[in-house]
Amino acid sequence: MHMHKLEKIWLTIGIGALIVFLAVIGISAFYLGNKPPSCLATVNPEKVDQQAPFNKPGLHKVEGKDWDYELVFVASAFNYNPGTVKVPYGAKVKVIATTKDVIHGFEVAGTNINMMLEPGYVSEFTTTFDKAGQYLILCNEYCGSGHQLMSAKIEVVK
Ligand code: CUA
Repeated sequence: MHMHKLEKIWLTIGIGALIVFLAVIGISAFYLGNKPPSCLATVNPEKVDQQAPFNKPGLHKVEGKDWDYELVFVASAFNYNPGTVKVPYGAKVKVIATTKDVIHGFEVAGTNINMMLEPGYVSEFTTTFDKAGQYLILCNEYCGSGHQLMSAKIEVVK
């Protein structure tokens, strides 16, 4: 089969780009251990308040784990529990969140924390707060008439 030279060049670029993208995803997933924030941990959405760790929202010190604190959030229309939480500066924190009703967002402005909270699923993200100050948590999934009012605050204190 005869192929035009330019066609061959474009095919090479296309296949090359595909291989690069697959390699990036593969390295990110299997070597760096990245996964979607809701990594198939489940929770009964009707009994969120009775199930650990969601029966005690807020910041908890933990021992013997790769992180120092667990920061538990329960979202529901149209707020987050806790509404304000203080986090020590420089602490490695695992954020664990879920929703009691509909899909909510969980974006911490100015950081790379950006999760979707789905009913029945637990979303997790581990991070270190290495800048003191106030961080706004915003819902970035449209969830109803109070969506634009839905926010909370993380205060990173030295
Ligand atoms: Cu919750 Cu939008």
